[in-house]
Amino acid sequence: MAQDTRLVEALSFDDVVLVPALSPVEPWQVDITSKASRNVAVNVPLLSAPMDTVSEWRLAVVLALLGGIGVIHRNMSVEEQRRHVEKVKNHPIVELADIAVYEGEECCRVRETMRTLGVRQLPVVDAAETVKGYVEFAELETCSCGTPVAKLTKPGPVFELGEERKAIDFVKRGKLDAAAVTLKSRFLGAVTVHEALAVYSPALDEEGRLRVAAAISPFDIRRAQALDGFVDILVSDVAHFHNVNVISAAKKLVKSISTDFVAGNLGTREGVLDTLSKIEKVDGLRMGIAGGSICTTSGVAGIAAPTLFAVMQARSALEELGVKLDSIPIIADGGIRGPGDAVKALAAGASAVMTGYMLAGTDEAAAPLIRIGSKLYKPYRGMASRGALERRYAADRYSRVAKRVEEGIEGLVEYRGPIRRVILEFVEGLKAGLGYAGASSIPELWRTARFARITSRIGAYTGVVKTN
Ligand code: XMP
Repeated sequence: MAQDTRLVEALSFDDVVLVPALSPVEPWQVDITSKASRNVAVNVPLLSAPMDTVSEWRLAVVLALLGGIGVIHRNMSVEEQRRHVEKVKNHPIVELADIAVYEGEECCRVRETMRTLGVRQLPVVDAAETVKGYVEFAELETCSCGTPVAKLTKPGPVFELGEERKAIDFVKRGKLDAAAVTLKSRFLGAVTVHEALAVYSPALDEEGRLRVAAAISPFDIRRAQALDGFVDILVSDVAHFHNVNVISAAKKLVKSISTDFVAGNLGTREGVLDTLSKIEKVDGLRMGIAGGSICTTSGVAGIAAPTLFAVMQARSALEELGVKLDSIPIIADGGIRGPGDAVKALAAGASAVMTGYMLAGTDEAAAPLIRIGSKLYKPYRGMASRGALERRYAADRYSRVAKRVEEGIEGLVEYRGPIRRVILEFVEGLKAGLGYAGASSIPELWRTARFARITSRIGAYTGVVKTN
């Protein structure tokens, strides 16, 4: 058979821009709610990449609090991964501050603590962490130093985990500055004014708990079953899903689970068509091969399906099958450097984006902070890099038996502070992007967005030296 020598055009984020259009809305009116998989809604269309320098429980908690969803990596034992999921599911739907005083503490010191914290009340706990009530700053102003706060403690409302909304309400109405939340009657933390007034819409499941996803290998039925029904989405985590062995393993695997299953990574229309025709249950498509910031696959193997191209391929497969874009959501994975790339991915047909790069430098990412000279960094590595492969559980992602070559780098990213800052910027950027494109929601963007090819980089990259 003759070789097909036709060239396909595989566009990447820097090859295109979105063309501005008449806007019916202001950016703050734009609705960016979306889906991370068929049955899982998110308020911010962003998933964290399941990578071992990024996605563990701490990051997944804060990301879900902010409206997105974390995908716990699988470079750990099944039991460990389940524990990470459990921690997210058992976490309050608001960040709690660890501010309480022990009943034996002397009142003048507590007064100083409260002054520093700027709160009018603080929960008081005993040695067993039982909440005894609250101490009022006003009462402490005249106390004689040395008196234990137990003597000045008054009863007050205490909220068991699950009642955080009530606690938030209490604080918002100015009745308390720090409302105690308990787990099985033991002090867990306090809802503060700062958190109560934060304008978040957390991603919550049907039972009101934070959403979380987990990465699995399609060959690892034991892992999938251990997480099934417990996690919101099971995300396939193999470099090349369009492989007969992977597809046949996934076909078997989905028969034993009821949780949403996202297939990936895929890069082509044919890959999506084969996946959907052979596997009974596919609730999302993770699209993009070798487009990630730490990927070396295209250099090592000459292969790539750039993320924007891969999303467009998935969209054309779904359209060919007459499947609506939001019934099998497309996740754009790899190479997202900021909200601008995300807007392009969404416009091409994605329902959400997945990123490791944008989150790797945050406080919550699962890697230590490193100082080099006067600058702060966090390590970030590909899951097919030497370091990740050396950890046992990475073996079946880029199978060590089949592949001995590294397909990812180990590096550092600049420290970016709390994830909250990154997500707020991301949300603002997304809303601005949809506003410029004249779309009030993601489905509207799918219908109306127009791409233009560009021949060179545009905007602020022309030699102006940045001074801020
Ligand atoms: P970003 O651009 O956010 O991309 O850093 C994250 C995505 O990259 C993929 N990934 C890899 N790809 N070699 C690869 O070729 C690797 O070692 C590797 N590790 C992660 C993965 O899809 C991730 O979500």
